[in-house]
Amino acid sequence: GSSRSGSNLSGSAGGAAGLTHRPRRLRVNSTMRAMVAETSVAPRQLILPVFVAEGLGEPRPISSMPGVVQHPLDAMGSVATQAAEAGLGGIMLFGVPREDRKDALGSAALADDGILNLALRAVRDEIGDALLVMSDVCLDEFTDHGHCGVLTANGVVDNDATVEIYAAMAQVHAAAGAHVVAPSGMMDGQVGAIRSALDTAGATDVAIMAYGAKYASAFYGPFREAVGSSLQGDRRTYQQDPANVREALREVLLDVEQGADVVMVKPALAYLDVVRAVRELVSVPVAAYNISGEYAMVEAAAAQGWIDREAAIDETLTSIRRAGADLVLTYWAQEWAQKWRAGAGRG
Ligand code: PBG
Repeated sequence: GSSRSGSNLSGSAGGAAGLTHRPRRLRVNSTMRAMVAETSVAPRQLILPVFVAEGLGEPRPISSMPGVVQHPLDAMGSVATQAAEAGLGGIMLFGVPREDRKDALGSAALADDGILNLALRAVRDEIGDALLVMSDVCLDEFTDHGHCGVLTANGVVDNDATVEIYAAMAQVHAAAGAHVVAPSGMMDGQVGAIRSALDTAGATDVAIMAYGAKYASAFYGPFREAVGSSLQGDRRTYQQDPANVREALREVLLDVEQGADVVMVKPALAYLDVVRAVRELVSVPVAAYNISGEYAMVEAAAAQGWIDREAAIDETLTSIRRAGADLVLTYWAQEWAQKWRAGAGRG
């Protein structure tokens, strides 16, 4: 038993000595483990969500997302440059308007001087094609009631009126330089309406990353602080019930039919079975969004010393890729890519 194979009872009778199959042989050292690893998490597969806030002088920390900030507009060039240098696939921009610019219709979403539109232009001017510039097409950041669309007299989100606004918003984002627009409001018909609006505007090369399966989740909590939104009521009439997976497949198929170039599942961790099912169903790339609450749980437990932060991040991102996501949206994208570049990340 003193051979390099450690505790194996080589040469002695009994025990496991006669084993033909010893799976541990493929785990003997880190070089072997790296060689046989089935899953990689490369920077090009990661997308960094970025919050840009109107009227900020300097970055403002988001207390429920330690390490994540709202950026001022004039920081966007350098945020994008760093992301490109780290080799990330893209950044997903979320606008945070000043409180006094919110209204029932979310008008600042369409305004040329709306914060998201200014940020898209600033980033695209700086970065060209070195990084994919993506935009959230949704109204919750811009409405005073915090819903993802405009409301009927009864206070329900009005599907068709909202879709018209999304279509106009996508045109504004494309004109501002977005490579990819990402409708996240879960309105019926949003992908088709956006596709035809983009095509009408001549933006045939602008891609749609559709939030196909987006669940009504408690894990969005910290995002509300991140975008300064307080929601009246809940989103259960448009986001999906966590109980359902076939419904997600139906939503995803409708999005692909309507022209989605990439489909997304969100949140990621509580829905890895959905990620797998979607991956097996469609041939377009599948993205999964490792959302604010999932980020916050790891950071909070790590800050308490209850889990190993780096190992938990590795396991989180690897599990989402292993489940079948081609792309992962994660607040750890920049950190992960820097580690990876330094040769320390999972290859
Ligand atoms: C909608 C949108 C949300 C997130 C991304 N896009 C919030 C919501 O639907 O309630 C959440 C992202 C996160 O929690 O990290 N604009």
